[in-house]
Amino acid sequence: MMIGRLLIVSNRLPVSVVKRVNDLHFQPSAGGLATGLSSCGEAHQSQWIGWPGIAADKISQPEKRQISNTLKKQNCRCVFLSAKDIQDFYRGFCNKTIWPLFHYFPLYTVYEDRYWQAYKRVNEAFRDAIVKVVEPDDYIWIHDYHLMLLPELLRSKLPKAQIGFFLHIPFPSFEMFRLLPWRKEILKGLLGSDLIGFHTYDYVRHFLSSAARIAAAEHSMGTLVTGNRVVKVDAFPMGIDYDRYAGAVEDPKVKKIRTTTRKKVGDRKTVISIDRLDYTKGIIQRLEAFDLFLSQNPEYNGKVTLILVAVPSRTGVEDYKELRKQLEWLVGRVNGERGTIGWVPVWYLYCFLPFEKLIALYSAADVALVTPLRDGMNLIAKEFVATKTDGKGVLILSEMAGAASELGEAIIVNANNKQEIVDAIKEALEMPIEEQTERNRLMQSRLARYTVTRWGNDFLETLSDVKKTQEKLSVRKLTKPNRAKLVSEYNKSKKRLFLLDYDGTLVGFVGQPEKAGPDKKLGSLLKALASKPKNEVVIISGRGKEILNHWLGDTDASLIAEHGAWIKEKGSDWQVIEPLLNDWKDTIRPILELYSDRTPGSCVEEKDFSLVWHYRRADSELASLRLQELRDAVLNFTENLDIGVFEGSKILEIKNIGVSKGHAAERWLAKSKWDFILAAGDDYTDEDMFSILPETAYSVKVGYGISKARFNVESACELRLLLEELVKT
Ligand code: G6P
Repeated sequence: MMIGRLLIVSNRLPVSVVKRVNDLHFQPSAGGLATGLSSCGEAHQSQWIGWPGIAADKISQPEKRQISNTLKKQNCRCVFLSAKDIQDFYRGFCNKTIWPLFHYFPLYTVYEDRYWQAYKRVNEAFRDAIVKVVEPDDYIWIHDYHLMLLPELLRSKLPKAQIGFFLHIPFPSFEMFRLLPWRKEILKGLLGSDLIGFHTYDYVRHFLSSAARIAAAEHSMGTLVTGNRVVKVDAFPMGIDYDRYAGAVEDPKVKKIRTTTRKKVGDRKTVISIDRLDYTKGIIQRLEAFDLFLSQNPEYNGKVTLILVAVPSRTGVEDYKELRKQLEWLVGRVNGERGTIGWVPVWYLYCFLPFEKLIALYSAADVALVTPLRDGMNLIAKEFVATKTDGKGVLILSEMAGAASELGEAIIVNANNKQEIVDAIKEALEMPIEEQTERNRLMQSRLARYTVTRWGNDFLETLSDVKKTQEKLSVRKLTKPNRAKLVSEYNKSKKRLFLLDYDGTLVGFVGQPEKAGPDKKLGSLLKALASKPKNEVVIISGRGKEILNHWLGDTDASLIAEHGAWIKEKGSDWQVIEPLLNDWKDTIRPILELYSDRTPGSCVEEKDFSLVWHYRRADSELASLRLQELRDAVLNFTENLDIGVFEGSKILEIKNIGVSKGHAAERWLAKSKWDFILAAGDDYTDEDMFSILPETAYSVKVGYGISKARFNVESACELRLLLEELVKT
């Protein structure tokens, strides 16, 4: 499927460098992204581009070289960050702005322009590092919230590149996202990708909703069209390297650590809790719940131990320092109040666990308590289940973790509900072995199927499919040679017909329909085009005749209003194309008015032979709901009439079935033996016109998407440039 290499791009490389005294130490990075992706990268011929975790200005040039060379051997390319970047970009914008906001902690969120400037600067530095190494067939896969501007930054340098983006944290609901002062820029940055992936469908929904409301990027089944590109948005729940975790349980080293741990715990039950020390993980709330459990169930005092591992993380950020203090105080309190000589209720470790120790702990534990307040996915939950090869062990999982949508057989809890966690701990400790096994087997078979390799392949295959769709669309692009041919045929021809739609075709789409009048330049362009003796210009619009007259009456163009209900040939008066009935309007109008009142920002337009409900200024989600209801309501009344209900760009139009731009255009086609025809339009109503044109005609769709037109141009602006060229020749 893939032809080129895979360039994995993330803020942190899978290896982090620390300097102790005078020596550099290379150690595995913590967190789901590094753990998960390491095994995914191995399956492809890949290069990893990212930050090695150390401040560039705190090390010497030879040390920098040593880091680059050592990591290069592991297929990693370094992007070095200065101490200032680490402060303002990493600790600042990434971990004091985006991280808390996207995890629904608005009160922890800091909005600081200095951080934003650093975010832009570092994203640009990543762009430059990629541009240096990328080859044309490479797939560029960008990861996580640190690099949300990078897709668009790369796109402007490498328009044809294959760019995927994956967010490993939640994408928040619109209500949260809209708080961000730089929300537009972030969306624009992400939309530079070809494929945007999230862990769950909820995050997809939230992203699409923000894209529609903030960036006016509407989607159809998760596919957005922005400019000349199709962008696909979808859910890909990240998996784990299942065999590695399940297989390690019998590793002699692991067995040894497990036996020692078991011996130390004695015949007590063990509950484990392992996370990066982060306020989103709900560690304090979890410990409080464990304390409550002990107080409500005195029979378990002395019989159960909580092994609480907190992996050091973002230690330079104040909220994390504060959390550590709070946690350590609480551990002390619980142990002091409840412990006895010979029983310490909470074993607290503040350290990074190497792989073998981690597996030993997972497999030794009876219960895992994974109760984040919010978590993009949470791979700890999946890893724990994978190590339960004998089927024994119970997972308690927060419904706020992305993993909860796949691990429904766990005991699912609301992480803010302490009593629910208390009850879950009791249920878990007393769950019959058969039930534990049954639940684990179901989860294991799912995890063994959708592994991290499958996840990676799935994402990259979808990216390749998006590219194919884009190629199909770009085949129709009015390329330079096609354009030159068009101009040359125009020059040779003697009888030329122009059928031009107005809104979205000659002028861009504007928020207020009444403000879409022609600018000076367009007025002169149409006048010049229509005044050429060999040219017949017809403006073929859905607009009413008065407004067309007002805007374009002083040109030599013929006008077609209301999609062909009215025509005004050059030099004559308006006439109705055929006798049309209008009595249906009195029934339909009140329905449209009712929907308009119930949908702020929408309005009803009455034309001579049609009624239109406009919703371009309404909230997009409400509008799409109302649109369905309204369509059904109107269809009930129009069933036995010659009336059709049509959906266009942000409108629902009810009109006589016989009226179409196709019919109107036929009239002009029949008028003469044209040796050059150019028809242009942007929406579904123009398709009727494209479909009746002879094969030799130049039909041009403005914008991208499926169409009967032979060619596409990107925008109204591009079409106008073409017309300007014709006028000049
Ligand atoms: C989460 C993020 C990762 C990040 C990891 C560790 O899992 O999604 O992108 O790398 O935390 O955080 P750190 O700040 O140490 O990179």
